[in-house]
Amino acid sequence: MSSGFSRVIQGCMNWGKWGNSLSTIEMEKLIHFNLESGISSFDHADIYGDYTTESDFGKAFKNSTVKREDIQLISKCGIQYVGKSRPNNTVKHYQYDSNYIIYSAEKSIKDLNAEYLDLFLLHRPSPLMHPDEIREGIEKLLNDGKIKSFGVSNFSNGQTDLISTSSKVSANQIQFSLSHNTPLFDSTLDYMMINNITPMSWSPLGSFFKNQNDNKKVHDLLSDLSKKYNASKDQLLLAWVLKHPSCIHPVIGTTKTERINAASTSTQIKLSEIDWFRMLETYLGHKLP
Ligand SMILES: NC(=O)c1ccc[n+]([C@@H]2O[C@H](COP(=O)([O-])OP(=O)(O)OC[C@H]3O[C@@H](n4cnc5c(N)ncnc54)[C@H](OP(=O)(O)O)[C@@H]3O)[C@@H](O)[C@H]2O)c1
Repeated sequence: MSSGFSRVIQGCMNWGKWGNSLSTIEMEKLIHFNLESGISSFDHADIYGDYTTESDFGKAFKNSTVKREDIQLISKCGIQYVGKSRPNNTVKHYQYDSNYIIYSAEKSIKDLNAEYLDLFLLHRPSPLMHPDEIREGIEKLLNDGKIKSFGVSNFSNGQTDLISTSSKVSANQIQFSLSHNTPLFDSTLDYMMINNITPMSWSPLGSFFKNQNDNKKVHDLLSDLSKKYNASKDQLLLAWVLKHPSCIHPVIGTTKTERINAASTSTQIKLSEIDWFRMLETYLGHKLP
């Protein structure tokens, strides 16, 4: 079943102040480049760039003249971030009362120049969240046509169950990669398959480019596989994520056009089962039981 999102999703966390501080024209070009590369879904959160990146993107989107229906916009709410934009936040916390949920969605929509969000996520689970309170906000947003679907991010199965008692959860955006592989073993991905929840994975490349000297064995294996598959290391890491039967959508962070293009074409790599397991075993450093 199609999720309605491009298989590879472009993450926008680093587009603004928290990363590359792209200009409006650079963002506009990048929106077009993604679309030309087959990536039509863009991942945001209210907090990116200390609450500034959505409006930076929104300006570029408006200028781009790309039609709203030709892209999918994801945003997230609920983290109260400590920064200049919110001087009253003296401690980082989460807020999920219905009024704040509605306020956040409406602000993201306005900032993004978007009319509606295709998917609206609760960014992180809060120990104080109540499913009925969340339903009140989400139901209103859905009924008003402000959001097309609702989901969660970084939620465990139990936390998703809790929210599902009141609202239909259609996606969970989790950290997942070869180096962050716990969702394979703690039933997070199985749960999503069983419950028809779309998995999205942030940091899909894992830790491998953060320190090239780490994981030398994985880098050596990736170098060998690069020749076999005529693919770059980042493509192989994405192919590894993409092979999981739950149909994970990697949310990529690069803003470099050649890497965006490589990420998009990684969907065509047919990684064999043996090589998938070889990559896992090499990372784990031991045989599977
Ligand atoms: N839901 C959540 O809680 C949550 C949390 C974190 C992030 N996210 C989302 O996930 C998105 C992606 O996260 P991420 O940026 O951690 O993902 P990522 O795609 O795994 O990592 C991107 C980083 O890898 C580098 N990279 C990519 N290919 C490389 C290569 N071949 N060689 C060396 N470095 C390479 C990139 O550098 P260059 O930029 O130089 O290419 C970039 O710094 C974010 O933008 C955000 O939308 C969500």
